[in-house]
Amino acid sequence: MSNVFTPFSVKSLELKNRVVMAPMCQYSVTAKDGIPNDWHFTHYTSRAVGGVGLVIVEMTDVEPDGRITDYDLGIWSDDHVAPFRKIVDACHQHGAKIGIQIAHAGRKAEDAPTPVAPSAIKFEGPQYKEPKELSVAEIERIVESFAAGARRAVAAGFDVIELHGAHGYLIHQFQSPLTNRRTDEYGKDLSKFGVEIIRAVKREMPSDMPLFLRISAVEYADGGYSLDHAIDIAKAYRDAGVDVFHVSSGGEGRPGQRVPGNFPGYQVPFARAFREALGVPVIAVGMLDDVALAESVIGNGDADLIAIARGLLRDPYWALHAQQQLGLEVASPKQYGRAFS
Ligand SMILES: Cc1cc2nc3c(=O)[nH]c(=O)nc-3n(C[C@H](O)[C@H](O)[C@H](O)COP(=O)(O)O)c2cc1C
Repeated sequence: MSNVFTPFSVKSLELKNRVVMAPMCQYSVTAKDGIPNDWHFTHYTSRAVGGVGLVIVEMTDVEPDGRITDYDLGIWSDDHVAPFRKIVDACHQHGAKIGIQIAHAGRKAEDAPTPVAPSAIKFEGPQYKEPKELSVAEIERIVESFAAGARRAVAAGFDVIELHGAHGYLIHQFQSPLTNRRTDEYGKDLSKFGVEIIRAVKREMPSDMPLFLRISAVEYADGGYSLDHAIDIAKAYRDAGVDVFHVSSGGEGRPGQRVPGNFPGYQVPFARAFREALGVPVIAVGMLDDVALAESVIGNGDADLIAIARGLLRDPYWALHAQQQLGLEVASPKQYGRAFS
């Protein structure tokens, strides 16, 4: 018996187990064109071979100046669709479903000549520039860029779209009183930008395709928002169409600042609070690669899915090894059967 290795479904998405590969930037686009290459193909396909239920492709940006660096993936052009389709098809062939995290880095865009943000407040650190405060027309253009990115993700065959509303990137910057000091409607309602993006991307998605959103449940800097604020924002996002929340924390600033509670399961209480307050499925993430801990997070009803990041860099076959450790029949590719029998 296992909790993690049971199927899960939301809308049309049917997962064979509850293991999610968390999005992880690879900074490996060599031609600075945002197009995935052999590294990305191998990296994502390996984890599908390794038995995860859902792969989520790293932060992929909707505009060139929305990249953290010029080496990030992008989805701002139709040229991106076919190379992503190749990765999607390969992951499907190996039994995994696959989503893509679409994003804009805002003031954390290190290589953009002039990064943009809700307010002209610089992110701390020598590699960051002072951002330009977005005009309403520019905000509307970025919302449309998210919609166009979603349309391309659908065309590439992805099963899920995840919006990056965490870790101090643009959607998060609008949610936070630390970075959003606007006096217009986008400053009065800190969920307005995210809600507009959610509505715009939903228009491009089939009605049965789920939309995930990654959110920072708390900020750690002085004056940062609390869990209650994040849940209020998330209620507006849920009502606008988010089907699943992927619950992380922090990223708002202060490089070098210690994240309180960086220990196994440190973000699980946030996932549980979201699940209880919102009544929708949640993904817990953060040092969950201990198999017994992962089992308990699902078994205790803290979360519906567990995401693993660094654990899957260390071991692409984490899901197969976890099945082995739990005494389950290992669902390995037939080519690897002799290693697991
Ligand atoms: C190399 C690396 C790149 C990451 N890139 C992203 C990213 O693109 N998007 C994101 O939301 N989180 C990103 N993260 C955070 C992870 O998704 C995850 O939330 C974090 O590492 C905690 O999970 P873990 O303890 O299983 O590693 C990244 C983490 C690592 C280690």
